[in-house]
Amino acid sequence: MARTFKNFIGGEWVAPATAAYFENRNPANPKDLIGRFPDSDERDINRAVASARRGFERWSRTPAPARGDILRQVGDLLVERKDALADAMTREMGKVIAETRGDVQEAIDTAYYAASEGRRLFGHVVPSELRKKWAMSYRRPIGVVGLVTPFNFPLAIPTWKMFPALLCGNSVVLKPSEDVPHTATLLVEILLEAGLPPEVIQLVHGRGEVAGKALVEHPDVPVISFTGSTTTGALVGETCGRMHKRLSLEMGGKNAMIVMDDADLDLALDGVLWGAFGTTGQRCTATSRLLLHRKIHDRFVRKLADAADRLVIGDGRAPRTQVGPLVHEASRQNVERYVEIGVEEGAEIVIGGSKPRRPGWFYRPTILTGVSSRHRVAQEEIFGPVLSVIRFSTFDEAVRINNGVKYGLSSSLYTRDVNLAFRALEELDNGITYVNAPTIGAEAHLPFGGIKQTGNGHREVGWEGYDFFSETKVCYVDYSGTLQRAQIDNYD
Ligand code: UN1
Repeated sequence: MARTFKNFIGGEWVAPATAAYFENRNPANPKDLIGRFPDSDERDINRAVASARRGFERWSRTPAPARGDILRQVGDLLVERKDALADAMTREMGKVIAETRGDVQEAIDTAYYAASEGRRLFGHVVPSELRKKWAMSYRRPIGVVGLVTPFNFPLAIPTWKMFPALLCGNSVVLKPSEDVPHTATLLVEILLEAGLPPEVIQLVHGRGEVAGKALVEHPDVPVISFTGSTTTGALVGETCGRMHKRLSLEMGGKNAMIVMDDADLDLALDGVLWGAFGTTGQRCTATSRLLLHRKIHDRFVRKLADAADRLVIGDGRAPRTQVGPLVHEASRQNVERYVEIGVEEGAEIVIGGSKPRRPGWFYRPTILTGVSSRHRVAQEEIFGPVLSVIRFSTFDEAVRINNGVKYGLSSSLYTRDVNLAFRALEELDNGITYVNAPTIGAEAHLPFGGIKQTGNGHREVGWEGYDFFSETKVCYVDYSGTLQRAQIDNYD
């Protein structure tokens, strides 16, 4: 009998007001029922927000180094439970164990970074233009922060948002993806065990269009951080714009790897296999376009097809597996539809293009050649193991193709030419550019995010994540004992 899970609201584990639940199943084996999770609605969100407001009162006054100490303890517990967490994550969303271990590691890195930030959280002291006057700034907590997070990084992405938010003194309401509610539950258990005061964190499960929407629309939640599709992000953005909320959006990508004719082709081959088919292509940063210089195009496609065809598909918990399933059936149908669209538009399937005969939401790694940069499979995010190969003749043409999409998350260039490498850093329109490495692999202590329709100008984690979750307060202290008029008395 599968377990029935609860929300964490008001300092206790509670059933949803709706008394309704949804099932969470293993995508590699849909018969494996992980549990039933609350299908919450706005009543649960309202209670969670009211509780988080109480949590904020105390937490916002806890010194930042003490908040950091709790996050260090969270990091220690994540280290201790790394294997168990990775196993639970693979069971509920499918990616291979090496990757879910990496996902936990990203949460650990984020926890330790946050812990040390508790003793930094720098403001500025700058000279005043007037005598006997100090001018400075410091960072203040904001309030209740609402987090709406996706399935593909069930720990890394919620913790990228949550740890900086908590360290900055905010309380948090987390609405995780319906596909990974178990990981979110395990995370909240760890936070509580580490000593986080209960009302500082709230966990509300449910569907995006009900629970997520209620959180985004709640007037007492002044900050929203969302990772998901560009379409949903636009709706979130409309609401937050109307309500004057602070909003961070991380959305789609159509990331390209460019391989020049002077590149180390074996290195590029390893890179594209990892970038395109790691996480079964379900990363915002996945390599979904491969731009090949015409001189190496045919040779590289042959090598790539050979190698991709040998990738072992299977249950992510089996040690030999290299490519796990897609997260659910609808996601596989979406991938199938895109491959059909590609073929209708004139692309050729070199390998893949079908599902293996086995239970679970598997789809074979798929390579499409003869893709033009105008094709839909070269423009739209697919979020699956489908790689569109585009041929180019010059570096300038590759830059134009890379930049000719509405997204701007990550890009990559393989070359041995140092001049081209630096031109790529300057000319590729993306938030992240890699040289001689694929489009995935961002590290948790550097800002993460994209330009154009990938984001809305903010960055997650690194030093910039802390700016988003705190408000700048500017302070002037005049100890001259006289009225000193800024802009006037010093310039008469
Ligand atoms: C995502 O692509 O959805 O850069 C997040 C990476 C990971 C995070 C990716 N560290 O590949």
